[in-house]
Amino acid sequence: MSIEPDHSAGEAVAAGVERRWATLSIAIVGLLVGMAAFIGIHQATMPQGHVETADPRTLHVSGEFIESNLGSAVEPDGSVTVRAVGQQYSFTPQCVVVPAGTPVTFRATSADVVHGLLIEGTNINTMLVPGYVSVLQTSFAVPGEHVMPCQEFCGIGHQGMWGKIRVVDKAAFLNATATKRRLTCVD
Ligand code: CUA
Repeated sequence: MSIEPDHSAGEAVAAGVERRWATLSIAIVGLLVGMAAFIGIHQATMPQGHVETADPRTLHVSGEFIESNLGSAVEPDGSVTVRAVGQQYSFTPQCVVVPAGTPVTFRATSADVVHGLLIEGTNINTMLVPGYVSVLQTSFAVPGEHVMPCQEFCGIGHQGMWGKIRVVDKAAFLNATATKRRLTCVD
């Protein structure tokens, strides 16, 4: 008579549990691989929403970002659109004027390399990527000035690439638009 306890029933249970865990982990790995493949293929085949392009080679020649169209413009709904271009090592316009208490949409792109567009004291903080239009909305509560540095390293002159936002009284802004189609505060 053996005094060894019989382990066979316990071993069978342990093997069953191990198989279940192995199957579960393979299923989890399979699910993750499937999700990664789906997202990769989906993003490759579906364009992202609201991607707008602008050819950096023809920015200065034609289209929305020609120099005469840069600056601030009043839209029919009373909001303001600011169009700007970043290039090594400045913004055009270098000084942007906007009215206080008004929805402002920034539309900006780059003429050469990747630049940054950050407006101190606001939610505006984005990259300007050549070939694409960056669109951002904000509003400025009170008149004042905000600095607008390029915050992406763009070359040897990067640290000198600064613009300025001047927020003015809304009535004064609208007055000025009566005689000029595009406003800036470049002296
Ligand atoms: Cu442009 Cu840094």
